[in-house]
Amino acid sequence: MLDSYGRNITYLRLSVTELCNMRCRYCMPEDGICKKQHEEMLTQEEMILAVKAAVSLGISKLRITGGEPLVKPNILSICREASSIDGLREICLTTNGALLPSLALPLKDAGVQRLNISLDTLNAEKFRYITRNGDLNQVLTGIDAALSAGFDKIKINTVLIGGFNDAEIPALADLTRQIPVDVRFIELMPMTRQDAFGPEAFLPFTVVNEKLPELSPVKADGGVARLYRLPGAKGNIGLISPVSAHFCTDCNRLRITADGKIKPCLHSSDEISIKGLSYPDMIETIRDAILAKPKWHGELSYTARSHANRNMNQIGG
Ligand code: GTP
Ligand code: 5AD
Ligand code: SF4
Repeated sequence: MLDSYGRNITYLRLSVTELCNMRCRYCMPEDGICKKQHEEMLTQEEMILAVKAAVSLGISKLRITGGEPLVKPNILSICREASSIDGLREICLTTNGALLPSLALPLKDAGVQRLNISLDTLNAEKFRYITRNGDLNQVLTGIDAALSAGFDKIKINTVLIGGFNDAEIPALADLTRQIPVDVRFIELMPMTRQDAFGPEAFLPFTVVNEKLPELSPVKADGGVARLYRLPGAKGNIGLISPVSAHFCTDCNRLRITADGKIKPCLHSSDEISIKGLSYPDMIETIRDAILAKPKWHGELSYTARSHANRNMNQIGG
């Protein structure tokens, strides 16, 4: 369905939980989040109903997000049910990778077609620092497990953080020569006033071109990243610039949070509840949300932070 600016909304990001087994400094506070009441969250039945309603309005791609979707006890059942919905062309999932060693194969069997995996550093100590508790080895084993399970077009997401991983850009990019994955560098988005990082940590995407002059441009794949390739590489390098060059003009996304709010835009405070609605009401509400999608998210900077009023783990990216 077209929104009021003529954009075709075909991509739904469904967050299935706010909880996570990591605590990435740019994503959530150290003490986690105050766990919401069970009754406030969408049930599996409501999630599937919402996806069906969205598909009836033209959504053809579903990405399951979190928090960390793989900590959700019924995640395989959600994926299995979603993959049986007629009209969904693609089911993808974004994960921190820690649980992939045991879940990669079951996810594939449950109908998930593509995985994006977060990885901000290749140094185990730095990994523990940025995630506050994560184990790099689990994630690297998880990436191997995903490749062995037969996932292709895996994308590694790296948030660019000045003074933390800028010196590692070449090493992270080199993964595209070692294994068949894309590596995407994402500009750090300023979310709330409690963010762990300030303007000193922000790096524009162009820093990657400066560090890797051998990159040559390749054709975009319809996603939000500008794509490049290293000579001899098996995968692409993607640059995602939500801050320095927003991509709202081509935005095709709608988001549903784990507590049942439709977010027409990642960085807007507008939220429309679908919790407890009947199927026909869900369709109408999702239609209204698509029509309420703003033209763009407004200025995004350290003096004009996101208006989302949520940490990233409560949205799903
Ligand atoms: P593909 O389906 O592989 O293209 O994945 P994706 O880039 O849509 O999803 P992913 O979950 O891997 O998100 C990568 C990064 O892009 C995250 O940091 C998201 O927050 C960011 N991102 C995704 N969609 C939007 C958007 O609509 N606006 C902004 N500003 N950032 C977004
Ligand atoms: N800025 C940019 N990217 C972020 N992510 C989480 N928080 C932020 C932020 N503040 C990324 C994660 C994950 C993706 C879904 O969102 O690294 O890969
Ligand atoms: Fe968890 Fe992903 Fe947020 Fe890290 S970025 S705390 S892995 S949801």
